[in-house]
Amino acid sequence: MKDIITLGIESSCDETSVAVVKNGREVLSNVIDSQIKIHEQYGGVVPEIASRNHVEAISRVTHRALEEANIKFEDIDHIACTYGPGLVGALLVGVSYAKALSYTLNIPLIGTNHIQGHIAANYITHKDLEPPFLCMIISGGHTHLVYIKNYIEFEILGKTRDDAIGEAFDKVARVIGLGYPGGPKIDKLAKEGIPNIQLPKSRFDNLDFSFSGIKTAIINLHHKNPEINRADLCASFEENVTQVLLDNVLKAVKQLDIKKVALAGGVSANTYIREKFMELEKTHNMKVYYPTPILCTDNAAMIASAGYYNFINGKRSDLFLNAIPNLKLGEET
Ligand code: KG4
Ligand code: ZN
Repeated sequence: MKDIITLGIESSCDETSVAVVKNGREVLSNVIDSQIKIHEQYGGVVPEIASRNHVEAISRVTHRALEEANIKFEDIDHIACTYGPGLVGALLVGVSYAKALSYTLNIPLIGTNHIQGHIAANYITHKDLEPPFLCMIISGGHTHLVYIKNYIEFEILGKTRDDAIGEAFDKVARVIGLGYPGGPKIDKLAKEGIPNIQLPKSRFDNLDFSFSGIKTAIINLHHKNPEINRADLCASFEENVTQVLLDNVLKAVKQLDIKKVALAGGVSANTYIREKFMELEKTHNMKVYYPTPILCTDNAAMIASAGYYNFINGKRSDLFLNAIPNLKLGEET
């Protein structure tokens, strides 16, 4: 069978990324132009600045992705771009660029859901992974426990009712003075601490999550006692939220009688969370998957992989494709 070459484009937040992927799983290039340094001084992503930087970067990043993959525009079979969820102005840069390329090269365009991309990062890292499986998507914008029925069908089993888990990591880090982005900083400092601080755990009858309570509890603790040991606070926070994730995953495992679980999204780069999930292999006879760190955070290779599966399953977008900031998984057009 002829190889299928996908050009993936990702611009939903503060990374301009373009990738070339062969047959959905083999990365030929994955160029990521991060704006973290630019947004760091504001303590978070400034949407208008992000959009402008995407405009400035998109063409350069695309040419580098082709060069690194050693291919020409004519070698691309189809384009997959993130069209939601994300920041509208940022998304529009990638969507408009992808539409122009698709029109000029006369090749199919597939608008792809960013969350589906995070799930697909696992297909690149684990060549043997096939649906069905459970996926715990933990990122700066999302906390979703999803049943992956097949490559293009998903059932959301539970999601956050307030803050995303990554948002909680970032806010806690900011309050205790670790800076932005907080996730990696908490990850590092927690290793020096002991999880000896009692924090509230959210519990629901269904498989939903909530992280605003623990975030507020930590903010209050820190304000009342600015001398509190920050490493212990980070370790306690990590232990608490990881336990909440594990409890819900184990409930879902029981309900669906499924033994495969994958982590996805920026927060799945967290070393403590990975370690605790890996223990499920021994304690619950499960198979646990997570993407390599570079594929956990936003990148275009994961969008290309998801787009490839959309493509071979007959999905296509037309030139009326628009950015949808609050696009839900499973509600794609
Ligand atoms: O997936 P992602 O790049 O963007 C979204 O789609 O939201 O996730 C970014 C999030 C940020 O909240 C960042 O703090 C968090 O992932 N993150 C981590 C780690 N690395 C990134 N959180 C905890 N531990 C880490 N090592
Ligand atoms: Zn993301």
